Amino acid sequence: STVIALAGAIALATGIAGAGASAQAQTSIVVGHTLSPDSHYAIGAEAFIAKLGELSDGSFTGNQAPAGQLGGERDMIEGLQIGSLDVVITSTGPLGNFVPEVYALDLPFLFRDYDHARTVLDGEIGKELLEKINGNQLVGLAWSENGFRHVTNSQRPVRTPADLDGLKLRTMENRVHMEAFSKMGAAPTPMAFPELFTALQQGVVDGQENPVTVITASKFWEVQDHVSLTGHVYSPAVILAAPSLMDGLTEEQRGWFYEAAAASAAATRAEVNRLEEAGVALLRENGMEVITDVDKAPFAKLAEPAYSVYTDRHGPDLVTRIQAVK
Ligand code: PAF
Repeated sequence: STVIALAGAIALATGIAGAGASAQAQTSIVVGHTLSPDSHYAIGAEAFIAKLGELSDGSFTGNQAPAGQLGGERDMIEGLQIGSLDVVITSTGPLGNFVPEVYALDLPFLFRDYDHARTVLDGEIGKELLEKINGNQLVGLAWSENGFRHVTNSQRPVRTPADLDGLKLRTMENRVHMEAFSKMGAAPTPMAFPELFTALQQGVVDGQENPVTVITASKFWEVQDHVSLTGHVYSPAVILAAPSLMDGLTEEQRGWFYEAAAASAAATRAEVNRLEEAGVALLRENGMEVITDVDKAPFAKLAEPAYSVYTDRHGPDLVTRIQAVK
């Protein structure tokens, strides 16, 4: 997927630039993600491509492959590992299957708010976890953002855990989330995101959980009547690159990729902020019933055993450190 176009050679062959044109190689990068072309990930992908182009003086160009064109998030992570994809913006949902330490970030009711999550990811802990990612045939360029996840469904307003009882709820392919939802009373059904809209439409599942960013970008109001602001999990996103791509770059070029990823994360977080402000009104305008006054404590209490998916293997240290970050 990395297309090397020898601009100089083409210019000579077509006679545009004439003899003496510099044989500057131009590399085109594809940035894959699962969401629509107007989503917070799409904004992040555009910012990545623009920054890379600017820093490299146009020697790197790029396109995004949105809407799961390159597969679901698990497929795309595998694509990076084998070098068939370049750069991917993904939630951490399926990443714990590849880098188990990352499960710590997906624990329910762990992060207090956006400030807490962003401080953790931008600090020492975020750096350590990017290094763990790097040890697994992936390159972690930067932490980006998906947002706090909320439950939507087609059956009834969810106010208490009892309302989740027996609800067939699509989760990500993430053992922490599946355990949490089964303990909270739902029937979790893991599924790749590109299959979800149809599954909701056909009633294969009753509900799903995602941040306001995703509910709006995916127009879930067309297939879901109720949304409850449970905020049960903070969902980080991460910008990943293929080691085969990064290994072929000079040190300076690698630096451009890291800077482009930082610009992408900033643009995505700004869009998350905007939708956290405007999103609820947008959901209501589109006909959803929004339950805002959810008492989170009983959900958190029931979901607590899900912590052992992480702590049984890695101990409680990282969880305690995350909780202690102010
Ligand atoms: O629900 C998911 O799978 C993820 O939140 C999504 C929508 C693919 C964004 O990363």
